[in-house]
Amino acid sequence: MEKWWKKSVVYQVYPKSFMDSDGDGVGDLQGIIGKLDYLEDLGIDVIWLSPVFASPMDDNGYDISDYRSINPLFGSIDDMKELIDEARKHHIKIVLDLVLNHTSDEHPWFVEGRKSRDNATHDYYVWSKEPNPLVSVFSGSAWEFNESTQEYYLHLFSKKMPDLNWKSESLRKEIYRLMNDWLDLGIAGFRFDVIEYIGKEPLSMVTANGPLLHPYIQEMNKATFGSRNTLTVGECWNVDTTTAKQYSDPDGSEFSMIFQFDHMKIDWDERLGKWNPKPLDFVQLKKGLSHWQNEMMDCGWNSLFWNNHDMPRIISRWDDDLTHPAEAAKMFAVISYFMQGTPYIYQGEELGMSNARYPLLETYTDVETLNAYQDLVIDRKVLTDKEFMAAAIRFGRDNVRSPMQWNDSKNAGFTTGEPWLPLCGNYTTINAQRQVDDPQSVFSFYKKLIQIRKKSPYSELIEKGRYTLLEPDHDRLFVYERNDGQRCLLVVANYSRSVLTYTIEKKIIGTVISTQSRPITQTIQLMPYEAFVVEVER
Ligand code: NOJ
Repeated sequence: MEKWWKKSVVYQVYPKSFMDSDGDGVGDLQGIIGKLDYLEDLGIDVIWLSPVFASPMDDNGYDISDYRSINPLFGSIDDMKELIDEARKHHIKIVLDLVLNHTSDEHPWFVEGRKSRDNATHDYYVWSKEPNPLVSVFSGSAWEFNESTQEYYLHLFSKKMPDLNWKSESLRKEIYRLMNDWLDLGIAGFRFDVIEYIGKEPLSMVTANGPLLHPYIQEMNKATFGSRNTLTVGECWNVDTTTAKQYSDPDGSEFSMIFQFDHMKIDWDERLGKWNPKPLDFVQLKKGLSHWQNEMMDCGWNSLFWNNHDMPRIISRWDDDLTHPAEAAKMFAVISYFMQGTPYIYQGEELGMSNARYPLLETYTDVETLNAYQDLVIDRKVLTDKEFMAAAIRFGRDNVRSPMQWNDSKNAGFTTGEPWLPLCGNYTTINAQRQVDDPQSVFSFYKKLIQIRKKSPYSELIEKGRYTLLEPDHDRLFVYERNDGQRCLLVVANYSRSVLTYTIEKKIIGTVISTQSRPITQTIQLMPYEAFVVEVER
C-alpha cells in the first residue's frame, strides 16, 4: 500500500475555535466547510479533526457519550458527510480523533454499567473494591466511588471520563464495528487519543505501555484500518524510540506514525511538570530532536510538530512572540519542515498566532487547568496563586484554544455572536485576511515550505535522506544536514536575538528557502531568528 501520508501535511482543526457558522459563539462543521478554500490554498492534505462526537464537553469532546453521532453544537451527521465530500473536492482527507481509552460518564455503556455489577456493560469499565494511589493526569486520585455497586471506577482523566476496560472482548468488538462504520463513511483514518493507556494494569499501578497494548493495537489494525489505505497516528506521552518503532513499524502491523512529546517536555519540572517550568535548554532540545531523527530513520515514522490543542504556541512558550513574532514563527517552521516525518500544523500556526495569555483564572474553562489550580494552589499549597498563573499563561490549554483570527473585524470574523473564549488581543494585526496575499507573511512562508516538501526536487530527500546534527553544542544555532547520496541540504537557524556569524563549510549550490530576502554567502551574518536552507555540495 502506498504510504501517501509520508508526503502529506496534516492540519489540526480544533472545532470549537475554528469557525462559527451559526453565531452561537462555538465553531462548527459548516464553519470548517466554509474555510476549505483557505486550507486548499495553504496546501495541506489532511484535516485532523479534534473530536466532534456527542459529548457533554467536560473536556471539550475528549469525553465522548456516543461515538456514532455528532455533537449538535458542531452539526449533524449530514454536515459530517458534507464535510467529507467537500473536503475531497478540495483534495483534503479527513482524519477523526478517536478517544478509546475512556468515554464520558454519560455514555450509555457507563450509565448502564454503573447501575449493577451484573449489567452487560459493567465490564466495559475498570473497577476496584479499594482505590490504590494512582493519580489522575487531571490531578487527584484516579479512582471515584460508585454508590450503586459499592466499587471505585478508574478515571485517568476527569471524574467524568471513566476508563474503558480493553480486556472485555465484547467492548473491543463494539469499538472495531464503530471504527469500520466511520471508515465506510469515507474518512481517511484516525488519530488515537492517549492510546498508550489501553493496555493498562491499574491494580499493579501500570498505566502506559501495559503488556497487552501492542497485541490490542495489532488486533484493532487487523479488524479495521489495516487493509485500508489510511493514516493512523497514535498519541503517546510515555514512549522511547524502541517502542515508537513498534507502534509505527513499516510492516504496517500497527499505526502509520506516532505523535510523541519528548521535545515538548524539555522545560517541564520533574515534580510539578508544566506548572513549574524551567528555562529552555536549547542544546538538549536539539539533541532530543536529533535522537528521534536518527533512531527512527528507515524503521518507524514520527510526527513533526511544535503546537497542538494541549501545548502552548511555540512562539509564546519562551516569549519570542513579544519581540519577533513572525520571525520566530518562520524559524521554528524551518527547523521542523526539513526533518523526516509528517508535519502537523495546529490551526493559526500558519499565521503566527500567539497564546492568548489570559491573566485571570476566571477566564479559564479547561478542566485540566482548573483541577491543577485546586490541587496545587488550594489543596496542597505547593504553588502560590501568582506562580500558578505565571505557568497557566504559558501552559494553560485555553491559551492555545482562543478563536481563529480570520480578519480584523469584531471577534476576528470567527463568530457573529459571543465567542466561547475571548480572542487573543493581537487579531487586528495577526489575521488570515492580512496574510493570504502578502508574499512576506507567515502564511505565504508556510505555503512555500509545504510545496517544497510535497513537490520539489527536494521532496524525496526530505522524506528519506540521512540526518546529521552539526554544531551540537552551540547554544543558539540549530544546524543540520539531510543527505540522500544525491543531494545535500543544510538547514541553519539562529534562535537568538543577536546577530551571529556562521561559516558554511561546503560549497553552496543554491538557496532553497530563507526567512530573509538576500543571498546566502559562505560566511554569513545571521539576523535574530533568521533561518535558511541551502543545497550544498555533497
Ligand atoms: C489527550 C488530548 O489531546 C487532550 O486534549 C485530552 O484532554 C486527553 N487526551 C484526554 O482525552
